[in-house]
Amino acid sequence: MILVFGSLNIDLVAKVPIIPGPGRTVLAPSYQTHFGGKGANQAVAAARIAGPGQVRMAGRVGRDGFGDSAIENLRGNGVDTDLVVRADEPSGCAFITVDQAGENAITVASGANMTATARDLPARLFGPDTVLVLQMEISFTRALEAARRMNSASGTVIWNLAPVPERMTREMVMELLAVTDHLMVNEHEALDAAAAIGIVASDYETAAAELAMAGDLTCIVTAGAQGALAVTADGSRFRAAAPRITPVDTTGAGDTFVGAFAAMLGEGAALPRALEVSCEAAALKCLKAGAQTGMPARSAIGSLA
Ligand code: RIB
Ligand code: NA
Repeated sequence: MILVFGSLNIDLVAKVPIIPGPGRTVLAPSYQTHFGGKGANQAVAAARIAGPGQVRMAGRVGRDGFGDSAIENLRGNGVDTDLVVRADEPSGCAFITVDQAGENAITVASGANMTATARDLPARLFGPDTVLVLQMEISFTRALEAARRMNSASGTVIWNLAPVPERMTREMVMELLAVTDHLMVNEHEALDAAAAIGIVASDYETAAAELAMAGDLTCIVTAGAQGALAVTADGSRFRAAAPRITPVDTTGAGDTFVGAFAAMLGEGAALPRALEVSCEAAALKCLKAGAQTGMPARSAIGSLA
């Protein structure tokens, strides 16, 4: 079973000519509402591949319309929502501006997400058959607590170190590495995590190798059009190429990769195969607007045929 403990957001997306700097205002023709939140995105991506009833989401939303629709959307995607709890704070909301080049700037108003606690996770879920998926949009200490429990129960921990917090201490990264089996990062996150523990790496491949060794884990780096790289604790390297596409929207591509990877681990796939499938899934996502709309169903992934 795949257990995602993380954020659920509603994404409000405006296409702007230029992303405004401090003190500036820009006009956008309109805005679009999409389902988002790194946790929910990863749960949906995993469920589209693993099928209904295989993925469970734990986290918190508000007692508001956004919360209702976020839960309903997960259910519609075959994700179990029994562990999504209502909080007094408003549901998480991401304010996203996308410019003409497809670059984005995101402000996440965390709200209910920051009240999610590992105490919401029942003991029976901690065991060797569970793949726990974590990100950085809920409280770090509570995510860490869940990871520690999963670790002692011999479950698998996938940690997507995104977004990188403003102040990421050496201690935080060391604690995270200690309980993680698969660390998932993009190029920048790989370098930032390495830097936080005092490793000066000039490229993401070196950073990944150092992180893998430091945490006795597999470090997976997503590098957009360059595909993905995995480095295991013993230094073995695997690469997967990204299919060539013309992206419409890259929001949620990383989440699609993580969710697909969790689904593949859940079915016992070997690392190179999990990488290949996740790369293809992430590329397919980029063909549609919104974080979740383009996430492919199992049948749409050629490398799974
Ligand atoms: O990774 C993309 C997600 O990050 C968006 O859906 C938005 O909610 C932000 O949390
Ligand atoms: Na580890």
